[in-house]
Amino acid sequence: MRSQYCGALNASHINQEVTLCGWVDGRRDHGGVIFIDLRDREGVVQVVFDPDGKENFALADKVRGEYVLQVTGKVRARAAATVNPNMPTGEIEVYGTALTILNEAKTIPFPLDGYTTVGEETRLKYRFLDLRRAEMQKNLRFRSKVTSAIRNYLDRNGFLDVETPILTRATPEGARDYLVPSRTHDGKFFALPQSPQLFKQLLMVAGYDRYYQIAKCFRDEDLRADRQPEFTQIDIETSFMSQEQIMEVTEGMFRELFKDLLNIEFAEIKHMPFSEAIAKYGSDKPDMRIPLQLVDIKDLVTEVEFKVFAGPANDPKSRVTALKVPGGNEKLTRKQIDDYTKFVSIYGAKGLAYIKVNDKSDLEEGLQSPIVKNLPVPVRAAILERVGAENGDLIFFGADKHKIVTEALGALRCKLGADLNLYTTEWAPLWVVDFPMFEDDDKGGWTSIHHPFTSPSCTPEQLVASPGDALSRAYDLVLNGTELGGGSVRIHSPEMQQAVFQILGISPEEQREKFGFLLDALSYGAPPHGGLAFGLDRLIMLMVGASSIRDVIAFPKTQSAACVMTDAPGTVDELQLRELHIRLRNQKKAADTATESPEYGM
Ligand code: AMO
Ligand code: AMP
Repeated sequence: MRSQYCGALNASHINQEVTLCGWVDGRRDHGGVIFIDLRDREGVVQVVFDPDGKENFALADKVRGEYVLQVTGKVRARAAATVNPNMPTGEIEVYGTALTILNEAKTIPFPLDGYTTVGEETRLKYRFLDLRRAEMQKNLRFRSKVTSAIRNYLDRNGFLDVETPILTRATPEGARDYLVPSRTHDGKFFALPQSPQLFKQLLMVAGYDRYYQIAKCFRDEDLRADRQPEFTQIDIETSFMSQEQIMEVTEGMFRELFKDLLNIEFAEIKHMPFSEAIAKYGSDKPDMRIPLQLVDIKDLVTEVEFKVFAGPANDPKSRVTALKVPGGNEKLTRKQIDDYTKFVSIYGAKGLAYIKVNDKSDLEEGLQSPIVKNLPVPVRAAILERVGAENGDLIFFGADKHKIVTEALGALRCKLGADLNLYTTEWAPLWVVDFPMFEDDDKGGWTSIHHPFTSPSCTPEQLVASPGDALSRAYDLVLNGTELGGGSVRIHSPEMQQAVFQILGISPEEQREKFGFLLDALSYGAPPHGGLAFGLDRLIMLMVGASSIRDVIAFPKTQSAACVMTDAPGTVDELQLRELHIRLRNQKKAADTATESPEYGM
């Protein structure tokens, strides 16, 4: 039906006859000449109809926004005065000689160029219109290029693309499962995979050596700008490779994508131990574009009378930490400091002490602060020295349980970076390594930091003797404060796997019931293996500069994990439920939610 894409036309097509198909982006009547901006997925071109072609002109007059047209015409140069440098096709236009209206369109609920004034829920309800916008087209086309480049890299490096099941058993990755009831097995449920983790390990046992899959994963967890209930991983697993080699081959892919698609070359990517990330940046995914660092001052304030500091300073589970903002004295108003105090309270911080350094040579009068009177002069001096304070700096303090201070000041660091635009570089990738194996579950037990199949860097005996001290052979790739990917060397001996299950409080019966197939596989010649998964949506989000992964997914869900376009999840009829052996506990609620308008929260 067409010879070219609208957006692909340029001066090299001048004098050619072309046939285009597309949507009416805009129509202007200029004193007897009708201009139609015709749009397809490649862009927009201006088509001109003048009254000389009577029939076409009459038809062009009827055309409205978003009508679908077929236009034949001749490409010609625009008059110098009408060249539009803001438009890729702005040097040319098409002089229309034939016009067919392929379909009409109702008036659309929001103008495609004025979408920012409508709520995101309206955009998602009419996603098929929202996707016509240039920005969404650009994002989805870029996404397609990325997946193609990924396949290219992995194919070249000997990886095999193997699909794994969607109807499966629970794969523990730390979120709730999406469950699918079985019709043929009364009372039983499939779980949708949180990741292909166990299947990719089984493929290694089967000898496939290098596997990849661009895999859909499902996690029922609280949603945020970088989390969706259904998302895509670039899932990778290899055998007979060391941790360093796995990191090298996956980093190679990451580098190639940025080089080939954005022409960005990264310098050496640092490997930072988890403990350093938490100590200096208050996060396991530090945003290294921001130069601010946390500095612990616990040892300096154990003796002070100021209880806010002395209490945590004398508690082994607490932290007292300073965050210096160079030049912050001038940059931050009292109101902003109050706002930051509110901000850190989200993380449980009870306050946000601060010192403004006016004159560091005068420790009596030169420091402006609500707390300084509570600190002896030598302590003031020691704090200023520890953080390397200069006149004009502002120092924030957090004093509380370790987790609260770390999260609060870690988040404050990122907020200050964004608010004061402290970024020193556009891209800051980082590997975080040497994660602990387990964390305290606050109920006297342990939970895995990565997943339970991650290999510790010690023996099973050492692991069982001191789970809290064990480090794992896991690694995360972080970019600009976002966790892009994570992986690990896996356990390949049944004894070690059982030791980990035991520490996690999974009884031998439960181990057999849930993971018997894995323990069996590990006992039939499992090779040393390991891998990693990148979050594809997050990768694209960062590469295109979007602020949410929803902007790089064709049909995302809202924050309440619903699709407002199809109205999913939906109710099912009684017969279907009966076939699935399901009786709803709260039949009234199900009936009510069927008639309620869906929740739109983002
Ligand atoms: P992990 O749970 O770290 O590891 O997930 C890997 C990457 O997937 C992305 N991701 C998400 N993206 C969007 N929405 C979500 N809800 C979401 N959850 C995770 C992140 C994350 O870094 N099986 C292991 C990998 C391995 O060990 O090989 C796993 O799934 O970018
Ligand atoms: P207060 O003694 O509660 O009036 O607090 C004195 C100052 O210390 C105020 O500036 C508070 O914001 C700050 N502050 C209180 N609790 C904490 C805390 N846990 N960490 C850091 N600063 C705090």
